[in-house]
Amino acid sequence: MTEINSVTTLTQDGEVAVITLNSPPVNALSAKVREGLFEGFKAAIASDAKAIVLICGGRTFIAGADITEFGGAMAGPGLSDVQEMMESAPKPVVAAIAVPSGRVGLPEVALGLLPGAGGTQRLPRIVGVEAALDMVTSGRHVPAKQALAMGLVDEIVEEGKLLDGALAFARKAVVEGKPLVKVRENNARLEEAKGHPEIFAEFRKANARKFRGFLAPEYNIRCIEAAVNSDSFADGLKVERKLFGELMAGPQSAAQRYYFFAERQANKIPDVPDDTPTRPIKKVGIIGAGTMGGGIAMNFANAGIPVIIVEQQQEPLDRGLGVIRKNYERTAARGGITTEQVEQRTGLITGSLDLADFKDVDLVIEAVFERMDVKKDIFEKLDAICKPGAILATNTSGLNIDEIASVTKRPQDVIGLHFFSPANVMKLLEIVRADHTAKDVIATSMKLAKQIGKVAVLVGVTPGFVGNRILGQRQREAQKLVLEGAMPWDVDRVLYDFGFPMGPFAMSDLAGLDIGWVKEKSHGETIRDVLCEMDRRGQKTGAGYYDYDENRNAKPSPFTEKVINDFIVKTGANPRKISDEEILERTIYPMINEGAKILEEGKAIRPSDIDVVWVNGYGWPVYRGGPMFYGDQIGPDKVLAKMQQFQATMGDAFKPSALLAKLVSDGKTFSDIKA
Ligand SMILES: NC(=O)c1ccc[n+]([C@@H]2O[C@H](COP(=O)([O-])OP(=O)(O)OC[C@H]3O[C@@H](n4cnc5c(N)ncnc54)[C@H](O)[C@@H]3O)[C@@H](O)[C@H]2O)c1
Repeated sequence: MTEINSVTTLTQDGEVAVITLNSPPVNALSAKVREGLFEGFKAAIASDAKAIVLICGGRTFIAGADITEFGGAMAGPGLSDVQEMMESAPKPVVAAIAVPSGRVGLPEVALGLLPGAGGTQRLPRIVGVEAALDMVTSGRHVPAKQALAMGLVDEIVEEGKLLDGALAFARKAVVEGKPLVKVRENNARLEEAKGHPEIFAEFRKANARKFRGFLAPEYNIRCIEAAVNSDSFADGLKVERKLFGELMAGPQSAAQRYYFFAERQANKIPDVPDDTPTRPIKKVGIIGAGTMGGGIAMNFANAGIPVIIVEQQQEPLDRGLGVIRKNYERTAARGGITTEQVEQRTGLITGSLDLADFKDVDLVIEAVFERMDVKKDIFEKLDAICKPGAILATNTSGLNIDEIASVTKRPQDVIGLHFFSPANVMKLLEIVRADHTAKDVIATSMKLAKQIGKVAVLVGVTPGFVGNRILGQRQREAQKLVLEGAMPWDVDRVLYDFGFPMGPFAMSDLAGLDIGWVKEKSHGETIRDVLCEMDRRGQKTGAGYYDYDENRNAKPSPFTEKVINDFIVKTGANPRKISDEEILERTIYPMINEGAKILEEGKAIRPSDIDVVWVNGYGWPVYRGGPMFYGDQIGPDKVLAKMQQFQATMGDAFKPSALLAKLVSDGKTFSDIKA
């Protein structure tokens, strides 16, 4: 065996040279790996071996570029040198990738990039233009069997026998004397698409909604267009290189790469180390079979953990269990799960009217009405019923969890598990640490979150926690802007163009304007009151802030416009023309400022945790990183200056956070704050 470098070895098995890379965790193409490949191939080509196998240690083949190297100068041999060497090898080169559980893909788009190093030029030559478009713009990993059918891999070998399979394949190639075909010279699949620009036009149109706002999918498409329309592989590569450079230098990829690390970072809790013991969670109790309770239960059933749901009465219990079954059946009808899985999962969820059935559960999640008296009553009962060491969690959207914990004799076991609606779909979980929450309860919750496929962020007790507290700022300003003369659709349009899936008024119409509205107490004191009193209660009544046609398409409403104008006149104010720029700054900057206050108060561990909350739970466009990252991109000094200006003219709702002011005076940014 020859040691090429610290991550690469070269051995020979009969006629076959074997280059083995071992660079945990994912054999990314770091300088060392590139060097190992370059020198390893050089030696293997010079040797008397008749074929070369490249294989990787660990869980994956080379997973792609080493993103920690991005942004700096690259040391060692470049990728194109390595590729040149491999492609011009005078003997067969076999990449050992495919066992039945293997998957192949080009996921760069998720980081706001494209598969440089020829990925966009080689892929369509192998799988054809349409399949390549799908793969590079979705970043989807194709399972081995499908990869074989597409021609992406030549053979699938037995699980656990990758090296043996690759060696046998290499020997066969030698014996059969297969011609050494270079992918770059194989243009047949490209020819099929030549003169058919409609392939690209249709693909763009079909995915317009999904790609909205993102640069990378469009750039990926352009590269494949270039593969089809260029005179040579080299010309296509030139286009790819240029577009890759633009993406790499641009703000979107910076945000997406930042976000990639932010999600991982959120798992790290400074005073709860990774080796903190956890409590076993084998059975879960949920109180309340309403909107949240049912969705939460599904998460556990999906992970194979049995759940008991307790309601006060049979009727809401039956209704809740019925909704769960319907949800699963709908997923099965779409092919998401099998009918056996429907039975298996619903079979894991049982109902009860008796809290005493929680005596042996390991975790309880309370999801009843958002009222402190009701929650306290329940926690007192749980304290009496549950076994020692059981975790007692509440799904409250913002009530004080310390107060809830105070009615128990075990506040160390009490924690907030704040799911988002629909709880079986939304990825975000705010884990709320109260004053006395034990470290192993936090560690257990973080681990459990992963087990049920959630992205967890640890936050502190504060009204609305991190997500809703920041949302409150945006909502307040949206309402105020309308009272000053902006129309709801102006506010919505600005936020939609910023990248949110919808603006706050469209959202109200969707959810129903009458959530929390009480007819008897309504006296036209807000625009919402007036609209609800006119039975414009949102999409469900065919009208709200917007008018809706029979297909639920929203149109700005002259009716609402009059309601608003009349309302403003009544308050004695003068509507004014409000610019899009002001709408954006008025709604977004107070969010950044509130995030800074949350950090100042220690209610979030680090700025990036706030960004994870907003990207996962509230539709903040990932290509803008999150509110704190965006604050850095704008510049904390600019945000501060605007907040000061707003405060001077509109009052203390805009009072700048002390932390923001300090960052600016120290010449720092949010990214300088490390947990
Ligand atoms: N709906 C959301 O978007 C959302 C999001 C996050 C958190 N939350 C929080 O989740 C909790 C539940 O909200 P929801 O939207 O599911 O409400 P919901 O009204 O849909 O469901 C509440 C359920 O609790 C039951 N219930 C009430 N008192 C009970 C008791 N003493 N014992 C057993 N069952 C009882 C009710 O019968 C009802 O079925 C609230 O604290 C809410 O703030 C809601």
